[in-house]
Amino acid sequence: MRSLRRTFISGICLAAFGAVGCKKSATSTSAGGSTAADRATEIIIGHYASMTGSTAHFGQDTDRGIRLALVEANAKGGVLGKKLRLVTLDDRGDSAEAANAVNRLIDVEKVSAVLGEVASSLSLAGGRVAQRRKIPMISPTSTNPKVTEVGDYVFRVCFIDPFQGKVMATFAHDYLKLTKIAILRDVKNDYSIGLADAFKASFLQMSGNVVAEQAYSQNDTDFSAQVTAIRGTGAQAIFVPGYYSEVGSIARTAARLGLKIPLLGGDGWDSPDLFTIGGDAINGSYFSDHFAPDVATDKAKRFVASFTTEYGQAPTGLGALGYEAAEVLVDAIARAGKVEPTAIRDAIAHTKDFEGVTGKITMDAHRNPLKSAVVLKIEGGKAKFETSIAP
Ligand code: PHE
Repeated sequence: MRSLRRTFISGICLAAFGAVGCKKSATSTSAGGSTAADRATEIIIGHYASMTGSTAHFGQDTDRGIRLALVEANAKGGVLGKKLRLVTLDDRGDSAEAANAVNRLIDVEKVSAVLGEVASSLSLAGGRVAQRRKIPMISPTSTNPKVTEVGDYVFRVCFIDPFQGKVMATFAHDYLKLTKIAILRDVKNDYSIGLADAFKASFLQMSGNVVAEQAYSQNDTDFSAQVTAIRGTGAQAIFVPGYYSEVGSIARTAARLGLKIPLLGGDGWDSPDLFTIGGDAINGSYFSDHFAPDVATDKAKRFVASFTTEYGQAPTGLGALGYEAAEVLVDAIARAGKVEPTAIRDAIAHTKDFEGVTGKITMDAHRNPLKSAVVLKIEGGKAKFETSIAP
């Protein structure tokens, strides 16, 4: 009960956030519940996200992308004669709060579909609720395979980690010509564990050597023991499939302890805060991601331009995938022909050749699309396109 109340309060705060966070008010956030009269003229979409906490960038950038897609759809007249309205609830990066938020979106806001989460551990928690309640959910960015295995109401619009792990193993082995790598994973994070395993399996298959394996937990602040254990193993790089908040500190620790090798990572690094936290120490490192604004298609270029005009900053991969998830949902509602969760679910499952800003989306039988990845290099406090790897 106490924790439900906290979610409710976060929702109220977001009402204010929503009003100032987006110049156009068509998708204003409310957390007071929707009425039958509202639903006669509006389609209510829920978003649960880490709007605050150590991974706040994840929730905030995704929410901006989603809002932009809904504002644009409303400007074209909405869907099925109704306007789209987004209700965002803050889960503060916590799994119990994520489950509470999805329950509340369904019970109080009476949403027809849910978007979220970014973090795989939280999509697993929220996805179980959406599945049980038979409300379709699309995760924009959760890459752990288990997320869509929760059931037939749970989808994603991004690639999955067995592929992402292979991308970075291939990049390390074939592109950087490395043969000895250490792995440092977050053992409290489903994404980190799964991506570390996928990288390791692929790298070993290429006859690469994993010379050390170390662990940390989300919100740790001291990584000197792990870095010390890796120093002296001959590792040419450290694969750190974690979130930007800890990766920045790990880079600083390695630099301070004189371990001058690049770090390699995955999409969880995607935040400008990584460069602030990591400083010079993170330069020369590489990570895989979903989107590189510097090599975008025409549609993606238009998206980057409108996002930048709207919010005064360029999107990261999160904003791009939030936008894409919302577009896929709007397209599915139109094809469903009615605002009914099961009909919307069926239409999402039939998404075919949908041109998104990060690639083409066709849902496979497991509710995952097949997409390419980009590898970005960090230089001068910026992430720049290095190469792209197809499935
Ligand atoms: N893929 C990560 C996960 O599943 C989340 C993430 C995606 C973070 C994209 C940043 C950018 O947990």
